Amino acid sequence: MDLSQLTSELEKIGAEAVQLAQGASSTQDIDDIKQNILGKKGRLTKVLRGMGQLPKDERPQVGQAANKVRDTIGEAVAIAESRIEHEARDRLLNVDIDMTLPTALSDLSPMGSHGVGALHPIVRTSEMILSVLDGLGFRRETGPQVEHDFYNFESLNFPADHPARDMQDTFFIEDDVILRTHTSPIQIRALMAQGEPPIRVSGYGAVFRHDQDNTHSPMFHQIEGLWIDQETSFAHLKGVMNTFLKELFGEQLRTRFRPSFFPFTEPSAEVDMSCFQCDGTGVAANRTLNNEHGQCKVCRGTGWVEILGCGMVDPNVINGVGLSSDVYRGFAFGVGVERVAMLRYGIAHIKDFYESDVRFLSQFVGQG
Ligand code: DAH
Repeated sequence: MDLSQLTSELEKIGAEAVQLAQGASSTQDIDDIKQNILGKKGRLTKVLRGMGQLPKDERPQVGQAANKVRDTIGEAVAIAESRIEHEARDRLLNVDIDMTLPTALSDLSPMGSHGVGALHPIVRTSEMILSVLDGLGFRRETGPQVEHDFYNFESLNFPADHPARDMQDTFFIEDDVILRTHTSPIQIRALMAQGEPPIRVSGYGAVFRHDQDNTHSPMFHQIEGLWIDQETSFAHLKGVMNTFLKELFGEQLRTRFRPSFFPFTEPSAEVDMSCFQCDGTGVAANRTLNNEHGQCKVCRGTGWVEILGCGMVDPNVINGVGLSSDVYRGFAFGVGVERVAMLRYGIAHIKDFYESDVRFLSQFVGQG
């Protein structure tokens, strides 16, 4: 081939390659162009090999022409590559999606990427307890977690240095500022804010004690109730406790009141309820729910489960907030939310509530 044949052959290859690139529809087409034209055994390479037969002074011309053709092909190939990439992306994006379709049930797996959320068992249990109290006419109140000694102890009839303070393993911030050890200070705050009874309030929130084992944690939750009026008696307390516990655990429930002590109530009582698992018999009908001695695991064969503390508000508490205990009487009660949740759901370790393990928490998805 002479010079003009070579250059026209180069132009022909260039034109054909550009056409092929424009028509390419896949990365395979692009690879083919690269290999068949630009590759080691490609057409362009072959033509350039023929350059050796030309006189020396003509070679640079061919070299320049070849470079130009290679650039043109390279450009066409780059444009085609980017077009193909965009087309592939558009294909992915243009799938018809009907956003109004319901989610497939399998997508609702709490372990899956589309898991639905659920209320934490402690929130769920608190809500359940509080809504029973709402129904009995108690108004919800809260208070600070960092509390003054006055509200947590003094006003609740725990004098300074009284041994009853020992029962409440207290975290101190300062000498007279602490993390509240119970929700009872909410009673005092509500009473002082309202003034004259009648008052019927529920208090809810986190409380703190340095105590830790399978059933105790340094942070846990309590719910509290206070009812003060002129004619409030221990009979009312029993009636409210019975109604409250039956709403929570079922109509078949029986209760017993055991004498106890709290500084802020007199008399005070601990309430036991008949075991919901064995119905107070001490032996569950379903044998797998009994321990190795054949006793119901929940009540350990006693038939009773301790559930809350309560009592008639001590006159010192009523007088201490500036009301007259000659006129007003009332009762109060307090219950541990974790304890209720552990009993209801059969949970053995309190820590399970706080470790945020999705395998534990997902068991509560969809539960009422
Ligand atoms: N505050 C008590 C505690 O944490 C629980 C309690 C008992 C609250 C009797 C009350 C009550 O209001 O009347 O141990």
